[in-house]
Amino acid sequence: MLKVGVIGCGAISVIHFDAIEKNSNAKLVSVCDVKQDVLKKTTDQYNCNGYIDYNEMLSSEDLDVVHVCTPHYLHKEMIIKALALNINVISEKPVVMNMDEAEEINKALEASTAKLAVSFQNRYNPTSVVMREYVDNNTLGKLVGIKGYVTWQREPESYYAASDWRGKTTTEGGSLIINQAIHTIDLVQWLGGELVKVDGSHSIKAFNDYIDTDDTAEIYFEFKNGAKGLFYGTNAYSTNSPVEMELHFENGLLKYMLGKLFLVDQEGDLTEIERDFQPGKTGKNYWGASHEKAINHFYQAFTVGGAYISLTDSIKSIDILGQLKKVN
Ligand SMILES: NC(=O)c1ccc[n+]([C@@H]2O[C@H](COP(=O)([O-])OP(=O)(O)OC[C@H]3O[C@@H](n4cnc5c(N)ncnc54)[C@H](O)[C@@H]3O)[C@@H](O)[C@H]2O)c1
Repeated sequence: MLKVGVIGCGAISVIHFDAIEKNSNAKLVSVCDVKQDVLKKTTDQYNCNGYIDYNEMLSSEDLDVVHVCTPHYLHKEMIIKALALNINVISEKPVVMNMDEAEEINKALEASTAKLAVSFQNRYNPTSVVMREYVDNNTLGKLVGIKGYVTWQREPESYYAASDWRGKTTTEGGSLIINQAIHTIDLVQWLGGELVKVDGSHSIKAFNDYIDTDDTAEIYFEFKNGAKGLFYGTNAYSTNSPVEMELHFENGLLKYMLGKLFLVDQEGDLTEIERDFQPGKTGKNYWGASHEKAINHFYQAFTVGGAYISLTDSIKSIDILGQLKKVN
């Protein structure tokens, strides 16, 4: 039985607690949050130990795995501390805010017997798995183009005020690009392959009065295999539209929209070939519904081995974001 701890009991943690509870090989032993009221509510709900200080939790509990669900600027120090104690880590995305932080974690990983896995849960969506099969198997010939669109709404007054680390470069590292759109940027690079060119920008179009990070971005990609990629994203739309993607192959087109993957024929008619899991009651629709699958997969990698989303794999999107120009 894996003994599990969670640091950070805010918005995303509920979906982690849900996955831990459902996994018959894992037990939630302890949680940590600096907010006393949040901590009490969580320990009461899950009947586990509670800590205000994460260092104390990591040293006192004999944990096999710790989930890091805290603001971005805290990920690095918490991951390094856990790895130093040889505790496996599941970190929420973005694992780090920049490539310098990634290098520090890499050194900690080299000195540790533990593993670090990163929550890019959307790679586990059934539709993402099928897109990947089309790319790997050349079912419609070679991939020649890929597009991703994220047009979401973050109400500046409520969303950024709800957690004071959001909207600030020092604590969030970027908003649209590193927090919301990072999943789709990750899918574009995961499906597109090795990159040879990235050119793009991020800016504040709407939320100047609330954030110093960004709410909008556009990116052009060129892949080593010759494929081209495009990305557009914003947090300043009127609603959280479902993410859209398009994969253009030599002999056909796949479209991902409304949580479904379609094959597009010559006449432009659509045939559904896969659809995503329905989100459960816990969490928000736009988080998708694959956290549980990703977490189960990571636990398996920590115990019996197998592939997982590693630091090296997860920082490809961080590297892309680091190459964007800030234009205002
Ligand atoms: N994978 C996804 O789809 C997804 C979705 C939402 C959020 N996230 C990620 O999850 C992480 C947390 O985001 P959130 O929206 O839940 O934030 P949040 O602000 O709602 O929650 C963060 C929690 O961490 C606690 N905390 C802050 N400092 C701490 C410390 N030193 N020790 C212990 N606890 C501390 C806060 O009190 C708060 O309860 C971020 O990395 C975010 O990008 C991922």
